[in-house]
Amino acid sequence: MAESILITPGLSREAAYRELLPQIEAVIQPETDLIANLANAAAMLKESLGFFWVGFYRNLEDELVLGPFQGPLACTRIAFEKGVCGAAATRQETLVVPDVEKFPGHIACSSESKSEIVVPLVHEGRTELVLDVDSDKLDDFSEIDQRFLEQLMAYIRELHYV
Ligand code: SME
Repeated sequence: MAESILITPGLSREAAYRELLPQIEAVIQPETDLIANLANAAAMLKESLGFFWVGFYRNLEDELVLGPFQGPLACTRIAFEKGVCGAAATRQETLVVPDVEKFPGHIACSSESKSEIVVPLVHEGRTELVLDVDSDKLDDFSEIDQRFLEQLMAYIRELHYV
């Protein structure tokens, strides 16, 4: 297994994702344990792209429960009708929030988080997981993040749910 991630310094975020995604896939492909793979995916995203917080919430008995993450302490449980995570899980679509203070019901785990993207993984009609990425900069996420993070979630879905 690879022991470190190699991302060319100074790349645009799009180019960095292009180098990073195949490396994440190579690391998680041989492993069958979901938690181990989510842990390494969170670590590699956080380390390579410098986000403030990267982590997963799992749908356990119709509540989102904190899973593997990298970054500061986070809220443990999120109801489906609460926060950006709950909204993305309920709508079953990616949400990009340029300014978290303007999102009704946003849950502030940290006051340093300014913008956020949440990508759900849906299998057979059920939201199984969400990936939540927080930035300490306003308006830090675009359709580029959406495209690559959705690609990553599709890969995790193929590995663990199909
Ligand atoms: N801000 C999220 C909660 C999770 S933390 O940011 C880690 C939300 O509104 O759902």
